[in-house]
This record gives sequence, C-alpha cells and structure tokens, in this order.
Amino acid sequence: MATRFASSSTQSSATSTPDHAGPSSSTRPASGTGRTTHFGFRDVPEEEKETLVGGVFSSVASSYDLMNDGMSLGVHRLWKDNFVSSMLPRLPPSYHQHPEPANPSSVRPANPKFKCLDVAGGTGDIALRILDRAREKFASRDVEVEIVDLNQGMLDEGRKRVAKTLYYNTPQIAFTHGNAQSLPSHIADNSIDLYTIAFGIRNCTSIPAALSEAYRVLKPGGKIGVLEFGKVSNPLLREAYRQYSFQFIPILGKILAGDADSYQYLVESIEKFPTQPEFAQLMRDAGFQTGQMKEGRGGAWRDFTFGVCSMWTGVKA
Ligand SMILES: C[S@@+](CC[C@H](N)C(=O)[O-])C[C@H]1O[C@@H](n2cnc3c(N)ncnc32)[C@H](O)[C@@H]1O
Repeated sequence: MATRFASSSTQSSATSTPDHAGPSSSTRPASGTGRTTHFGFRDVPEEEKETLVGGVFSSVASSYDLMNDGMSLGVHRLWKDNFVSSMLPRLPPSYHQHPEPANPSSVRPANPKFKCLDVAGGTGDIALRILDRAREKFASRDVEVEIVDLNQGMLDEGRKRVAKTLYYNTPQIAFTHGNAQSLPSHIADNSIDLYTIAFGIRNCTSIPAALSEAYRVLKPGGKIGVLEFGKVSNPLLREAYRQYSFQFIPILGKILAGDADSYQYLVESIEKFPTQPEFAQLMRDAGFQTGQMKEGRGGAWRDFTFGVCSMWTGVKA
C-alpha cells in the first residue's frame, strides 16, 4: 500500500481546472520549511526550488522543442516513441470495440474513455504521441489526455502546437496548470488509466511526493511510466557523455536558446538524479508493483542509448 507523502516541502502547488482550449492558473504561495534541496549543484531552500525551476522553463519554453532536437540530434523522438508504444502496447478491448446494441434501433452507448494524465507534459510531446498511437494503431478516439504542468509558458507552447492538430478543441486533450506533487483537486483518486511523466520528475522538489500523487490518482491496475535521463553504466561512455553534457550543451543552449544557464541546470540536474535501481526503489516505496530490480525484459526499467535515457514502469496493485 502506498502512504500519502506528507512532506511540507511538497505542498506548494498550482491548481486549476482543465482547459481544452488552453491553460489557466491560480497559484498559492509556498511557506518556508527551513530545509534545503538541490537545484542542479546548488543547495537552495526547498520552497525556492519551484520558482527556480519555473524560471528555467519560462526561459526555454519558446525554444524547447528546437533544443531537444539539437541536444539529442533528434534521438529524444525515438526515446519518446518507444516510451509511448511500451506504455500503450494495446488498448483494453472495452476502449476500442464498439459493441452492437441488443436492439439495433437503440442508440449505441458511448464508449468509456481511456484516461491518461501526462504530468510535466510541457509542450505536449508525449500527449500527442499517445493520441496519435491510439488513433493510428487502434483506430480509437476514445482516449483522453490531460497535460498537467507547472509552467504557463510551456503550456502555452503546447497549446499552440495542439491548435495545428485534429485534436484541437476536442475533449481528447486538455491543459491544466498544476503541480506533480499536489495534483489539481479535480483529478480524483482512482480515476486515471495511464500516468506518464517524461523528463519532468527530475525537476520536482520531492520525487516521493510526485510518485505518491501518481499512485493516488491511478485506478487499481493503472500503469505509470516515467521517462528520464539515466546513468550510463560503461565507464568510458559515461565519461564521454559527461564531457559532452558539460562542455557542449550549455554552449548549444547559448546558441539556440540564448540561455547557457538553464542548460547548465539541465546537465547538473541529470547528474543529481537517482540511479536506475534507486529510482525503481522509490517507485516501490510509493506502492507500485515493478519488475525485478534489473534492466530489460522482466525488469523495473529499460535503458535507451546505453542508459543516457531510461524508462521505469509500474502498476498500482
Ligand atoms: C524537460 S520538460 C519535459 C516536457 C515534456 N514532458 C517532454 O518530454 O518534452 C520538464 C517539464 O516539467 C515541468 N515541471 C517541472 N516541475 C514540475 C512540477 N513540480 N509539476 C509539474 N510540472 C513540472 C516544467 O515546467 C517542464 O514543462
């Protein structure tokens, strides 16, 4: 059983109701805890971290998608494709079969909706992939994704993107300004079929609080997928990757986004993130059933590109 995480460090939050046309927000202020946490390599008061993280994503929002391609040479697209196809190998039959009504003249009942929550969903990379996969692979429009993100600028970029797709102004996609650590109150306990968080949980002040919230809102049997930067196990490759990260990425950030500091934070936050088994243990501590404590088939996580990126999966019992 998961316990509700009660650290006061996690309780500053933004809450709002979903908006199918775009984001809205209301934020309540954080109170001081006297404790510190890391922001990249710096120690900062816990209650300041969200503001600092908010500053990073406000700064990079308009160039975020371009930078993702620049930093990873487009490989982040493959990671995300693999992540989404692993999290949604199929739809449960009730979500894509259209049962014939007993009486052919009666109105066909509406299909149930497969509810996804993409937390720290930013500009919608994961949400759009989920909807595309459901439509293209399973011919289903009975999937709905709500994007929750703490940063208004990122949500605005997502909204612009969605406006160019066929999901715009449909119930299939909604944007909500909110905090992973204290999800908006309209997201009820046991209401979500699939919870995803990609490259977001690293930025949370309290990872256990975010995982505890994920556990709370998932239905029993619902799945969680976390995509994050991992640790490269091969020592030679690890050092090469470290050099690339610290020497090249802040410079690229300066060139493409006019902002080296935000990308310096990015590489530092990756260094501070738990190892793959440590993160798997955090998922278990939150109550999730995971695979065995190993990488790959039957394991709690799967590495991409030698562990530069990893995905962890779990199920709410
Ligand atoms: C690196 S971006 C990832 C965006 C998207 N998931 C993707 O894969 O492209 C990280 C996102 O996490 C959001 N974020 C950071 N802390 C958050 C929190 N506590 N709650 C919700 N979102 C958060 C940021 O605003 C940002 O949009």
